[in-house]
Amino acid sequence: MSRLNPPVFKVKIGNARKTIKCAADRSILHAAIAAGIDYPYGCASGNCGACVSHLDSGEVHLLPHNDTSLSPGQIAAGQTLACRAQPRSDVTITWLGRPRSS
Ligand code: FES
Repeated sequence: MSRLNPPVFKVKIGNARKTIKCAADRSILHAAIAAGIDYPYGCASGNCGACVSHLDSGEVHLLPHNDTSLSPGQIAAGQTLACRAQPRSDVTITWLGRPRSS
C-alpha cells in the first residue's frame, strides 16, 4: 500500500442505506460523518463503545482500542468499532447503537 495513495473501498452502511467511499487509512466513522451520515459515536478514539457495529461482510483493520469498548468475544461475534475500523476490502456494516440525533 502506498502511503500517498491508499486504496479506497466501498462501505455500505446498512442503517443509512447508503454506500460511501473510505480510504484504507481512514476510519469508517470519519468517512461516514464526512458523508453526512448520523453515525452513532462518542469518543471517536476506541474508549466508549458508542460506535459499536456489526461487520456484515468484508475485512477491516482494527486500530488499538479499549477492551471494555469492544471485547474479544464481541470481535469473535463479528462486531467492530467504526471509529477504529479501517477498511481492507469493500465492507457492509450496521451500527448497533443509537444515532446522536435520536
Ligand atoms: S466512538 Fe467511542 S469507541 Fe468509537
